[in-house]
Amino acid sequence: MTSYRITLLPGDGIGPEITAVARQLLDAVSSKHGFELVYDEQPMGGAAIEATGEPLPTSTLEACKASDAVLLAAIGSPQYDNLPREKRPETGLLGLRSGLGLFANLRPVKIIASLVDASTLKREVIEGVDLIVVRELTGGVYFGTPKGRIEADGHVRGFNTMAYFDYEIDRIAKVGFDLAMQRGGKLCSVDKANVLDVSQLWRDRVEALHTASYPTVELSHMYVDNAAMQLVRAPKQFDVLLTSNLFGDILSDEAAMLSGSIGMLPSASLGAEGPGLFEPIHGSAPDIARQDKANPMAMVLSAAMLLRIGLQQEQAAAALEQSVDRVLAAGYRTGDLMAEGCTPLGCRAMGDQLLAALEG
Ligand code: IPM
Ligand code: MG
Repeated sequence: MTSYRITLLPGDGIGPEITAVARQLLDAVSSKHGFELVYDEQPMGGAAIEATGEPLPTSTLEACKASDAVLLAAIGSPQYDNLPREKRPETGLLGLRSGLGLFANLRPVKIIASLVDASTLKREVIEGVDLIVVRELTGGVYFGTPKGRIEADGHVRGFNTMAYFDYEIDRIAKVGFDLAMQRGGKLCSVDKANVLDVSQLWRDRVEALHTASYPTVELSHMYVDNAAMQLVRAPKQFDVLLTSNLFGDILSDEAAMLSGSIGMLPSASLGAEGPGLFEPIHGSAPDIARQDKANPMAMVLSAAMLLRIGLQQEQAAAALEQSVDRVLAAGYRTGDLMAEGCTPLGCRAMGDQLLAALEG
């Protein structure tokens, strides 16, 4: 029987609860589809700080590198906000992304029919939305140097550097164009080229790649402020949204809310080779941790992306997605999505319904 090694990183806050649900479903779907998953659970984020003093222990990074795919729940908690930056959970996540070379972050936003009324936007605006944010993940202002704090003229000055090499832009643009070719044929590249030099280089490289290799893709460019507005005004105009690390961070949270809850959106982070990292785009929600209130669906949908992209197990991936659709269509909701006439469930009970839908 085919066997895959999965590194599980439950992390902090609601992470362990949603990981338990995902694992239950992965076990069921793998045995049903004739393959085996062997898990290696490793500490990461705040949980790793408690255990080892480091947010990303070397042993965790090595375990990830040695696996076929990595499933991460969420990291972070306000209690670590005052630690020096290199000791914070978020720094561990950035280290994991760069350590695995995961430059391409894919964040699909597809509106599930039974959730149309859960959105804060009008039905006619969001019905049929099907877009994907392609976010550059290992460069830009998140990683640029120099950075830090200096004292000058009796003042303190904090600074970061937003920078991209041509090859960093080219490789993420290629991911965007390839996806556009497989999807609706449209790519919108988001930048701030009216102000930023780094964005002008971004735009020039995307243009050049379009002309050279993807002339059949319908390419447009949009400034990031306008893109933020267009996402809530008329999100159906978008197919593939290609953007840099910081802009993608912001726009993907905004795009997530089109679906009604940030608790619904999965993501995949991929490199040129080696295992991918699959994680919900939401955070660790420390305010509801250990209360059995979390929505496990983004985590389950991330597990589906892991099966599809990471292990090429398309049928198993589709089965997980179908169980989410079924449970929502049957009116089961966690608190974040609760609506009149629906049945409220906690995280564990939602997991049981998903399992039943998978088996059924
Ligand atoms: C995300 C998160 C992370 C990011 C944080 C936790 C470092 O917001 O994955 O979008 O900014 O990339
Ligand atoms: Mg974010």
